[in-house]
Amino acid sequence: MKAEVSITINGIAYSRTIPIRMLLVDFIRYEAGLTGTHVGCTFEGVCGACTVHLDGDAIKACLMLAVQADGRSVTTVEGLAKGNELHPLQVAFNQHHALQCGFCTSGMLMSSLDLIEKNPELSEETVRHGLVGNICRCAGYANIVDAILDVAQERGS
Ligand code: FES
Ligand code: FES
Repeated sequence: MKAEVSITINGIAYSRTIPIRMLLVDFIRYEAGLTGTHVGCTFEGVCGACTVHLDGDAIKACLMLAVQADGRSVTTVEGLAKGNELHPLQVAFNQHHALQCGFCTSGMLMSSLDLIEKNPELSEETVRHGLVGNICRCAGYANIVDAILDVAQERGS
């Protein structure tokens, strides 16, 4: 069975006819061609590599059907930079060596942004708690937490 959907991703509307069982993460990667959103745990909702924002909230795109996002607005990691200007979180991750292979990074960035935007005060503890749904296998978490706290401080958290 198929359905017509229109999902806005990073400000661009993608109208497609898709199988109703298609996951949002597959729509993002294969229909929109935005492969910065990763799949790490084969759709179990554990690793956080597929994290995107849906209408301003961080969600795991492997746990949602694309038809559920019809008419809604998604932001992926590709939507963070403004042209050649990286988002402050991307700059901080680079400066703090908060990534190695980079596989988790897009999800980490999207979860971090959600944390910063929704919490007026961030401590190391709240950042670590906020990232429980994002797994990093190689860079460790200390530098990621430092990068997030840096940006939060600059924003007055
Ligand atoms: S691929 Fe979605 S949480 Fe792992
Ligand atoms: S940087 Fe490799 S998994 Fe996080």
